[in-house]
Amino acid sequence: MPVKIAPSILDVDFARLGDEIARVEPHVDLFHLDIMDGHFVPNLSFGMPVIASLRKITTLPFHCHLMVTNPVALLGPLAEAGATTVSVHIEVHPDPTLAAEAARAEGLGFGLVINPATPFAAAEPFMELCDVLLVMSVVPGFGGQAFMPQVLTKVEAARKLIDSSGLGTDIEIDGGITPETIGVARRSGASVFVAGTAIFKSSDPVGTIARLRAAAEEGS
Ligand code: DX5
Ligand code: ZN
Repeated sequence: MPVKIAPSILDVDFARLGDEIARVEPHVDLFHLDIMDGHFVPNLSFGMPVIASLRKITTLPFHCHLMVTNPVALLGPLAEAGATTVSVHIEVHPDPTLAAEAARAEGLGFGLVINPATPFAAAEPFMELCDVLLVMSVVPGFGGQAFMPQVLTKVEAARKLIDSSGLGTDIEIDGGITPETIGVARRSGASVFVAGTAIFKSSDPVGTIARLRAAAEEGS
């Protein structure tokens, strides 16, 4: 599966959000939007008005990572605002069947997220419902944390299952992705790479995206 780079805007200077998006947009494959409710994770981020504004300046997919305790309540408004795909934590919905159906009913793609402490086995029975499996390589809540290499065994297991069952599911990895960590994540079987601080705290975001892509492709 081709390498896709997905910037997370969580650590952007929000006073310059439109400019930052416009700068990286020609060089990336989708945007990863971190939605936090201050309850499932101890932080707040942004919501529908921001997503709707961003939808006016790019046609790239918006993959919304829902770090919230009631994701289903947000699906309609997210679709309305311009989201493309939503990923729901398996820790919130241990049986995500209804959440997946609700997402599809809104015309959204669907994914499951597994925290570092959650085994792949929790999501495995539901892989057929998913366009994407999002494997957290940090404890969610904040950008700028260190990559946890121990989650890569889950990426390997997921890749094996997806390939052997002929599913087209993307494996996305989120947290601590840098030009140094992306290669091993690619070799383990990930195809979508979320990077927040590596891109937006860099003095050269476009150059960093090129370095991320090159390092991932080298890892292939
Ligand atoms: C963490 C978020 C991530 C994060 C990525 O809760 O889900 O998407 O912002 O940021 P970095 O790349 O800085 O780890
Ligand atoms: Zn995220």
